Amino acid sequence: MGFGRGKVILLGEHAVVHGCPAIAVGIERGVTASASTAERNILRLSPWGLAIEPDPSGGEPLERAFAAALALYPERPALEVSAEVELPAGAGLGCSAAIGVAALDAIDEALSIQRSRTELAEAALVWERIFHGNPSGIDNAMSAVGGVALYRKGEPLQPLRSNKPLHLVIGYSGESSSTKEMVASVARQLEDDPKRVNKAFEAIEVLVRNAKLAIEAGDHIALGQLLDLNHTILSSLMLCTSKLDEMCQAARAAGALGAKMTGAGGGGCMIALAPKQDQALRLCEVLGQDAFVAEVSA
Ligand code: MEV
Repeated sequence: MGFGRGKVILLGEHAVVHGCPAIAVGIERGVTASASTAERNILRLSPWGLAIEPDPSGGEPLERAFAAALALYPERPALEVSAEVELPAGAGLGCSAAIGVAALDAIDEALSIQRSRTELAEAALVWERIFHGNPSGIDNAMSAVGGVALYRKGEPLQPLRSNKPLHLVIGYSGESSSTKEMVASVARQLEDDPKRVNKAFEAIEVLVRNAKLAIEAGDHIALGQLLDLNHTILSSLMLCTSKLDEMCQAARAAGALGAKMTGAGGGGCMIALAPKQDQALRLCEVLGQDAFVAEVSA
């Protein structure tokens, strides 16, 4: 069975596309997939009831991504890949990367190809490029490898260690967004006003470096403050919506140590850091029926 995790970016989204470091965690929720030889190539995605045929010049990203994935295996029989997706799409939890990682993992298994999770992450970048145009690579890396890690484009993941688990709550705003469009919007802002946007990236990099120390020291009060500050900078890049702001404020008022949007923004998800497990469950109630707890050990 192939598996790709969902991911949550703790700090550093968008800046990571432009070479800054980011910290992310892999979550248990993700995509499972199986592959077997068949009469024709087909990718089935449930619960959406989709049956995708590969087409390198197709109008749907999934058609092109599936074609790009199959092209990685020049000598192979026709394959049917069936994937079960447990993540909301367009919500900033790395759904597209998780599908790519799970599909390639399943194909590897069907063809008895051995490779490490790091190699799998690298292979899945061809898939992610179809969806996101200019991905940093953080989504496929976290989807394949998991844990808590610092990522910088072009460098190996740096796992972070701590003896204190992170009690995260993930809330969904109900608004979906396109990562490709949000990344393009930041790129346009950078082109129009490089001084302002580079300052924002530099500030985010400082937050990420401090967050690494806070995670390693188990200082979740400091980590929460850094999440709040990162949210403010992402707001200044016009990535937050009023719904995401409201959810972050509600989480803080209900006892979260910090809260921020996560992923591409423009909708999607937010995260809140709870002091303890029981408080995480309470925050879930505050953040609505789609909210869930992810307990992550570094
Ligand atoms: C998307 O999950 C994170 C972004 O930083 C894009 C990327 O890193 O490829 C917005």
